[in-house]
Amino acid sequence: MSTEPSDWKGWEIYAGERGLTARLFSFLNDSLLVLRFAANQSGKDYGIGRLAKLKLARRIVRNSRRVRSLTSWQLHLVLIEEILRIPKSVKGDVVECGCYNGATTISLSLACALTNRRLFVCDSFEGLPAPLPGEENDINADSAREMLYYHWEEGEFTSEGGLDGVKRNVERLGDVSVCRFVKGYFENTLKDIDTDSIVLVFEDADLVSSVRDCLRYLWPKLQEGCRFFSHEPASIAVVSAFYDAGWWKDNLGTPPPGFFGSGRGIAVVLAHPFVGYAEKFSAEKVLQQGQKIVHGGSRGYQA
Ligand SMILES: C[S@@+](CC[C@H](N)C(=O)[O-])C[C@H]1O[C@@H](n2cnc3c(N)ncnc32)[C@H](O)[C@@H]1O
Repeated sequence: MSTEPSDWKGWEIYAGERGLTARLFSFLNDSLLVLRFAANQSGKDYGIGRLAKLKLARRIVRNSRRVRSLTSWQLHLVLIEEILRIPKSVKGDVVECGCYNGATTISLSLACALTNRRLFVCDSFEGLPAPLPGEENDINADSAREMLYYHWEEGEFTSEGGLDGVKRNVERLGDVSVCRFVKGYFENTLKDIDTDSIVLVFEDADLVSSVRDCLRYLWPKLQEGCRFFSHEPASIAVVSAFYDAGWWKDNLGTPPPGFFGSGRGIAVVLAHPFVGYAEKFSAEKVLQQGQKIVHGGSRGYQA
């Protein structure tokens, strides 16, 4: 994502962003979020209990104050919960595209260590590539903040200290032993990424051309039922990419998967941690095993 770090609140709430009411609402939401994370069934398959999850959540919250980041700890919990929910029987790695200083990497590495998965951390570590013609200005339709746009520039979000700086952050606060760092622009690196099976992708790469590179090379390896998360749920260009039937047919030979959480991201508890996702599904299986819905008006509205 793409706001000035000093302005970025990460976690915006329905009640507004200032004042006592907003702070109380925020406190309530955050508490419920942590309780929900601890109490639900995620992690059961890996023998990770409620206390361990509470401790993990505390660590994530504390870490979030220690590395300059463009994502919130609440978003990290969403991703971690998802990693803990993936059945142990589904083998594969987690991939992060766009790590900046490694704040999300730290949280993902802790979840990967607990679930015995590798984490591929992909970035140029030198910031954004040059935007393609036409993508310099990115219009965002964020339902609470009205229309706004970002202006992207080459080199924005260069990792402080480069790859070594990110490694140091993960060594200090996460679990670097699960990480495989992949340096370079996605268009060059992702086609040869050393994994056959992916169970979760988190991209925070801003530019739609970067997101398309991630989809092109990572989607085929994503396992069925698994999710490709995006930190660009408000970007018209990025969300459109998930519905672009021509692009999906030409590049991946499949229909587009669509996108959950367009606008503000998916809702979790009382708010939106500004993340959406596409899920890899088989249309055939949905038709065979999914729940058939009878449309309310299909037989007329008479009683
Ligand atoms: C907004 S920052 C990521 C913020 C990060 N998720 C966090 O938690 O603070 C965007 C990142 O994407 C990377 N990036 C964007 N497009 C890329 C590309 N095509 N190849 C490599 N890195 C890219 C940039 O270098 C930058 O680190």
